[in-house]
Amino acid sequence: MPFDRSVKIAPSILSADFANFGQEIRAIEDQGADWVHVDVMDGHFVPNLTFGPPAVKAFRPHVKTFMDVHLMIAPVDPYIDAYAEAGADMLTAHVEAGPHIHRTLQAIRGAGMKAGVALNPGTPAEAVADCLDLADMVLVMTVNPGFGGQKFIDMTAKVRKVREMIGDREIHIQIDGGVDPTTAPLVVEAGADVLVAGSAVFRGGSVDKPEVYGANMKAIRDALG
Ligand code: DX5
Ligand code: ZN
Repeated sequence: MPFDRSVKIAPSILSADFANFGQEIRAIEDQGADWVHVDVMDGHFVPNLTFGPPAVKAFRPHVKTFMDVHLMIAPVDPYIDAYAEAGADMLTAHVEAGPHIHRTLQAIRGAGMKAGVALNPGTPAEAVADCLDLADMVLVMTVNPGFGGQKFIDMTAKVRKVREMIGDREIHIQIDGGVDPTTAPLVVEAGADVLVAGSAVFRGGSVDKPEVYGANMKAIRDALG
């Protein structure tokens, strides 16, 4: 896939019906999702628990676009191979999750996946400066990770800084948390190209009313002008 810096929408299935992931994934993709964002939480790095490698493996055949797996777990390294085997296209680890992000990113690429590095709101852009050449994406969190539906924290200055640090390298900037038609233009203007959205995409829709997902994604795109 050639590198593409146009804006992509990655619905987070954290806001989907947990009893119905296959159909939910098909619904968002049919309605125009560019990537599928999968939030893995361990009840330790973040105060919430979601799912692990067997569930991610079960999602795989339903994802026709790009399976973007966001690990909110610590430690990361012992689980990298399991997520590769589960079929993740991109695996994102938090810089706060351990002392060796450089080794973690190398291991993710070594296992055949794209590598993402995530920054919590309280972590400065500089924390990723020395591992950018090992990263395919920088995820700038705009909420403290753990739950969907939280209020957007303005990180546009950090996004701008990361964008500047990246220069002409082929590295995506992803935003996750509180993205909706009001906040999306701020982060895109600052240099983001992958917008994760949970509640703003799934709100009001269902697998029986998938057109609502489409309308919600269109509202985000339209807000970008
Ligand atoms: C937050 C997760 C997000 C979350 C976003 O910890 O990483 O992906 O699902 O949800 P919204 O878009 O509702 O803020
Ligand atoms: Zn996420």
